[in-house]
Amino acid sequence: MSIRVAEFYSGIGGMHFALKESGVDGQVVRAFDINTVANAVYKHNFGEVRLMQRCIESLPMTLFEGLKADLWTMSPPCQPYTRQGLQQGSEDARAKSFLFLVGLLAKLQRKPKYLLVENVTGFDKSDTRTILLRQLVRAGYRFEEYVLNPLQLCYPNSRTRYYLLAKLDAQPRECSDTEEFPHRFCCDVPGANLIQPEIDTNGNVDFERSIWHHDGVRQVKEFLEDLSPEELAHYQLSQQLADRHECVHDVVTPDDRRTLCFTKGYTWYAKGTGTLLEFQDKTGTDSADSHNIRYFTPREVASLMGFPASFTFPSDTSIKQRYRLLGNSLSVSVVAMLMDYLLTRM
Ligand SMILES: C[S@@+](CC[C@H](N)C(=O)[O-])C[C@H]1O[C@@H](n2cnc3c(N)ncnc32)[C@H](O)[C@@H]1O
Repeated sequence: MSIRVAEFYSGIGGMHFALKESGVDGQVVRAFDINTVANAVYKHNFGEVRLMQRCIESLPMTLFEGLKADLWTMSPPCQPYTRQGLQQGSEDARAKSFLFLVGLLAKLQRKPKYLLVENVTGFDKSDTRTILLRQLVRAGYRFEEYVLNPLQLCYPNSRTRYYLLAKLDAQPRECSDTEEFPHRFCCDVPGANLIQPEIDTNGNVDFERSIWHHDGVRQVKEFLEDLSPEELAHYQLSQQLADRHECVHDVVTPDDRRTLCFTKGYTWYAKGTGTLLEFQDKTGTDSADSHNIRYFTPREVASLMGFPASFTFPSDTSIKQRYRLLGNSLSVSVVAMLMDYLLTRM
């Protein structure tokens, strides 16, 4: 039987693409996001889905009951939990809508049977996680938490993220407002074939150091577009930025098997926002000056994040907007694997 999916914080549809890739028989019955640019991309790819451009926390309870959704996917704003931010957690106004959804779980007559949450790794240390877990226990959800990286699925792109899977098949129980939960995050999903990272004696996981040089990871060249000279010129690193050496800090070649996480600021500030590509210049030079260093195109970033070839942007989405939206999105293949596990084996 086809499951009904409600996609909260739908952005450009990373969860929807993951649902399709997972092979789970499901249908997105409603998507929710306040960002007009993201919503235009979503509609461009999934015109058949009803998309609500409303603040989630302003919606009435009857709407959530009426969805009759079996699965809620949630990738709420990460700013309350990022290292770069103030890490205010639940005190941050941007956490409000997620806390609203978490609060609804106790009140709904017809609760979703499955939940899937994605966020940055700072989320696992936040008070929002604790509030979420207490609520899950009270409502009768069994849950599992993961910290995973697409490198484990042989994508040459690092994007370490926190994932929570929950299933409504436990006995609800009392849970006080002081109950805490151990930080036990799994890097291996039952039945999935994942490369395992090294874990140091303090329990810290280093995906990049331990998997970057693994032969199983695919080479960057598999994800590159064949650019015309005009297109190439568009993505080339400017001499001005190249001259500021501190900006050019992470460069790979097509033969490499790694790129850093592409963030929403890719190209804006250059440093720390993603990886650049050293390509073989048409004139035959292989020295790394600005002439043979370029940015990855949005399409290449999308491919490195597991978006299928069918994913496209509307022509009026600017390059900066594309990078920004992709930086906010997720690793499609990691989520697809988790959906398959959640719906069929967990
Ligand atoms: C981390 S992004 C999720 C991206 C999405 N998973 C994707 O694949 O593109 C968070 C999204 O939540 C949306 N958002 C933030 N606060 C919201 C709210 N109160 N109500 C609805 N959407 C909200 C943002 O516009 C943003 O697109």
